[in-house]
Amino acid sequence: MVSAHGETRPKDGVLGRLSGVLEKRGLDDLAATLSALASYAGADLAAVEGELAHLPRSEDLVGLSASHLLVRGGKRLRPLCVALAAKVGTGFGRPALELAVAVELVHNATLLHDDVIDQGALRRGAPTSRMLYGNAASVYAGDWLLVEALRRVVRAGVPGLLESLLTTIDEMIAGEAIQLERRGKLVADPGAYFQIIEKKTASLFRYAMAAGARAGGLGTNETRALEAYGRHLGLAFQLIDDALDLSGETESTGKALFTDLREGKLTYPLLVGLERDPDLHGMVQEALAREEEPLPAGLGARIQRALNESGALPATTRLAEQHVAEARAALAAVPDGPARAALLQVAEAAVHRRA
Ligand code: IPE
Ligand code: IPE
Ligand code: MG
Ligand code: MG
Repeated sequence: MVSAHGETRPKDGVLGRLSGVLEKRGLDDLAATLSALASYAGADLAAVEGELAHLPRSEDLVGLSASHLLVRGGKRLRPLCVALAAKVGTGFGRPALELAVAVELVHNATLLHDDVIDQGALRRGAPTSRMLYGNAASVYAGDWLLVEALRRVVRAGVPGLLESLLTTIDEMIAGEAIQLERRGKLVADPGAYFQIIEKKTASLFRYAMAAGARAGGLGTNETRALEAYGRHLGLAFQLIDDALDLSGETESTGKALFTDLREGKLTYPLLVGLERDPDLHGMVQEALAREEEPLPAGLGARIQRALNESGALPATTRLAEQHVAEARAALAAVPDGPARAALLQVAEAAVHRRA
């Protein structure tokens, strides 16, 4: 893959990074498959990277804020979904490229906004845009990325995809709205949690798969199957993300630990932990009350122990694995071939990740 600075970084992107992580964990077979996958979709992702590197950007605070996040590169999982769905069909042409860029832009826009709302300090291994350029610049930069995304979808010219992106963004906002309402309320509401992750995360994965499918000329049944895959992949992905907030390592995730916890977000591992261990409630309350950065190590360690010993973290991984199984099952309705095989591997890797 070609980075924003032009050099080739073969281990970059979701496939390279995940294969690296898996190699370290000794899962050599899966690592090898993912490396093979990098060569299958690598040129498509390099084209996405090229587009992102050449977005017109101003030199003011808003432009700097947008650049800051984009050039650091994320896992690029959503553009990969567009590319693989398109490759199930006729392939990754210009419309699919525009759509792949668009989903990454929407994602980056939500991250800029999310870090303002969550008071995120670290992302992609660097201080967040809001820390460097301020909240206002981050909000405007997010707005601009969103507009640029819509422009790309218009340019792709695939019937129905602008309307469905508008619906998707609506849904993402609705998810964030529920999350905002629930924030700081230490009363378990699993129904609200599942609504939140369905809307704020799974909806964009669903869109990415549907957009790729339509750009690849697929019919209704196959598009629906790929959408179902995207939905389950997105749910699994957010469940693991929520677990990583409590048990991951900053060196791998590139984000600060306990960001959600300190914002009073009752994610799945906390919901399960609070139900199983009455002592956890006091620990969470203490974490919410502490102002210091980072969270005192002793308190963090006690919370992690409670989440492990109550089985809350393993339960989260298990639920994510169930969604991966459903994502896999959805692919039964899709023609066999290298793109389908790649999607199966991406689903697997989305759970067994540290980044
Ligand atoms: C983070 O997404 C936000 C979630 C929906 C969990 P990613 O983990 O895909 O972030 P990047 O793009 O790799 O930084
Ligand atoms: C996902 O939520 C963000 C969006 C879908 C906008 P998180 O708050 O968990 O994302 P991170 O962990 O900060 O990346
Ligand atoms: Mg966040
Ligand atoms: Mg998170």
